[in-house]
Amino acid sequence: MENTLTLDEERVREDQEWARLFDYRIQKEFLRHCIYSISLNDPAHNLGHVKDVCRLGKEICGDLHLGERDTLLVYVACLLHDIGCRYERSQHHLIGYGLTYELLGRLWPDEFNDDEVMTIATAVLEHRSSNHYKPSSLISSIVSVADSGAPDFAKYVRRAVQFRLKKNMEELHVVEDVYKHLLEKFGAEGYHWKSYPEIGMDFFKKEWDDFSEKLYDEKSTLELIRETYVTLGGGSVTQPN
Ligand SMILES: [Fe+2]
Ligand SMILES: [Fe+2]
Repeated sequence: MENTLTLDEERVREDQEWARLFDYRIQKEFLRHCIYSISLNDPAHNLGHVKDVCRLGKEICGDLHLGERDTLLVYVACLLHDIGCRYERSQHHLIGYGLTYELLGRLWPDEFNDDEVMTIATAVLEHRSSNHYKPSSLISSIVSVADSGAPDFAKYVRRAVQFRLKKNMEELHVVEDVYKHLLEKFGAEGYHWKSYPEIGMDFFKKEWDDFSEKLYDEKSTLELIRETYVTLGGGSVTQPN
């Protein structure tokens, strides 16, 4: 029993872990409010996800030898990037953009000048990979790359198959369509590269090289798509006569 943490102790430990992650540079009340608000997000944008993004953002700042002030802007933007999800998912970047001004003004006034607040808010606005353009600043680029995480070929295949399963496509059609989609998105002229930040290409160079190698191994990729289709339950539903 002595080793069991009470709920309050657990909360304190959690707060400390967050504070340490940001090198104790985020104002306490502001941080606590953000953590509470994010805890009300949907599972895909929960505290675990935001913590991963903050960790990766910090790592990229270190890799780029970013100055202290810019690093702080990245910390705050990573913390706030999904703050809008609590209210609505499809427009959460826009909601987060507005909330950035509101929360910083109310809970952490006088720390950031107008330009810095705008840089943080813009990074929140531009963080989504569905953005059509490259992020407009280095801070935005870091947050966007941290949010996307390391390239994961199997994960992209899974998502693409899942999307088509919902549309009740047949196996042969799914396999062909997913491979076509992957080439269109991640091939040499793929549309993914139009909006993906350069710093992500450098930071994840090894992972992206590995990704491309897998993509152009047509036989293995088609097999992976087929296996994923079966694993996700494709073809197991008997069609009514
Ligand atoms: Fe997001
Ligand atoms: Fe996110």
